[in-house]
Amino acid sequence: MPGTSPAIEIRGLRKSFGDQTVLDGVDLTVAAGTITALLGPNGAGKTTTVGVLSTLLRPDAGTVRVAGHDVVGAPEAVRAAIGVTGQMSAVDDLLTGVENLRLMASLHHLGKRAGRQRVDALLEQFGIADAARKPVATWSGGMRRKLDLAMTLVGSPSVVFLDEPTTGLDPRSRRTLWDEVTALAAAGTTILLTTQYLEEADRLAHRVAVLDRGRIVADGTPADLKATHDAGTLDDVFLRLTEPSTEASAGASASAQSATTTEEVAR
Ligand SMILES: Nc1ncnc2c1ncn2[C@@H]1O[C@H](COP(=O)(O)OP(=O)(O)O)[C@@H](O)[C@H]1O
Ligand SMILES: [Mg+2]
Repeated sequence: MPGTSPAIEIRGLRKSFGDQTVLDGVDLTVAAGTITALLGPNGAGKTTTVGVLSTLLRPDAGTVRVAGHDVVGAPEAVRAAIGVTGQMSAVDDLLTGVENLRLMASLHHLGKRAGRQRVDALLEQFGIADAARKPVATWSGGMRRKLDLAMTLVGSPSVVFLDEPTTGLDPRSRRTLWDEVTALAAAGTTILLTTQYLEEADRLAHRVAVLDRGRIVADGTPADLKATHDAGTLDDVFLRLTEPSTEASAGASASAQSATTTEEVAR
């Protein structure tokens, strides 16, 4: 619940693959019941961060706590508290929607009766009950993504990680998913999502953190970030903070000045 101890606490997180340092001292705190968007250019380390938070990757250094548990010291407790939707779907195409969800329910040891009830409730909640008995291979991309999120929620997690949940979705499916995520947070679930869509972060997230070159280079509400960087849109903020190279930044800061006249889109 908002106001209590943070749902996610990352301090000095470092992670390298071989001699490539991907996370170079990441600090991030996420309040319970809020939506935080983790932004960053391709290869910035968003998926790596989610991997560490969800105990799939071991941090090299730093402290990472999720739902009050240390990811290294108490990975099982973390796993029991979280739901993860990865960039690669966990949905099995050959199974029906119901079968996919029931598989999740049994993985969560829900028991037959409780499992069925949970599955039915999720099918209803996500509006996929009609298609639920057809193989997922026949479903649209938007419906599959809903099933993916429903599967993430089977164990009633208090903290949910969504890695690029709307990439490749059409605008209508994207909005439906936004509504679901908003409703989840309103019900007290903490959400950390990664996205490449700045508009998505702007609309959906209470807080935005920008990851670049292994560090969080900006962190605040969308309104704060726009005000701090004197930018009309999060796109402008993002482009200014994540310069592709130092050579480009001299010229880019001049163009960034002119970008301050960009009208803020009313919403
Ligand atoms: N398992 C891995 N082994 C080696 N390199 C990896 C591995 N996972 C990610 N990387 C590298 O780490 C960097 C960050 O990747 P990633 O976290 O997937 O970025 P993002 O999700 O922000 O696009 C990339 O350069 C990627 O190639
Ligand atoms: Mg990624």
